[in-house]
Amino acid sequence: MTRRDPIASDSIARCVAIDGPTAAGKSVVGRAVADRLRLGFFDTGLMYRACALAVLESAIDPLDAGAVTALVRGLDLDVRWEDPTQPRMFLRGEDVTARLRERAVEDAVSLVSRIPDVRDELVRRQRAVASREPVVMAGRDIGTRVLVEARTKIFLDASAEVRARRRLGEELDRGRQTTFERVLGQTRRRDELDDTGKRAVRREQAAPDAIVVDTDALGIDAVVDRCVEAYQSANAAA
Ligand code: DC
Repeated sequence: MTRRDPIASDSIARCVAIDGPTAAGKSVVGRAVADRLRLGFFDTGLMYRACALAVLESAIDPLDAGAVTALVRGLDLDVRWEDPTQPRMFLRGEDVTARLRERAVEDAVSLVSRIPDVRDELVRRQRAVASREPVVMAGRDIGTRVLVEARTKIFLDASAEVRARRRLGEELDRGRQTTFERVLGQTRRRDELDDTGKRAVRREQAAPDAIVVDTDALGIDAVVDRCVEAYQSANAAA
């Protein structure tokens, strides 16, 4: 793909970029928007998590930026869809999606995702996915970096308390013992760790052409409606 390839550029322009802090609802909203628009959904956090898993399996120190970058650059990493709203990550040909929420991956991913050369490599791979066909892509730098040409950019925001309450529900559903205070602390810590390197985790960091949607008071259906309307008006003339 080159920047002058008209098919690739059109595909990227038609993508929906969704950014926001941890537990803002990017996946739930992104999946529903993809379903309504008949597009694939791609949660780029899965790609960073798969890299973290590969680092752990290789026994490389996640703080060793050079070694991590060399590993990631050569990594056989693939995203595939059977269901367009459920991306599956393949690492060296093996479906590792179910392992990407493990605690060890959760702990290593912040370290891996702050390495600038790792980000450059994954941004390149994410653009390659979006240039094949339009997708709804969620992450922290989609509107600001990965898909700057996308016509539809959404920044989902919510207070740390509301996000922690949502995350607490997910943790308890997974059978993990935890408390609201603990999850709130983890949410704030994750915000701090993710707040580097052109990432949009606070609304003032959103792409200038992004629509900021505050999800504290809005139900999921209302948020999805806002995103679908934004897509339709942005692409109506195209
Ligand atoms: O969205 P998530 O919690 O699955 O993301 C996992 C980690 O990857 C988190 O530390 C943020 C990082 N990430 C990123 O830096 N850029 C993205 N586009 C997506 C995720």
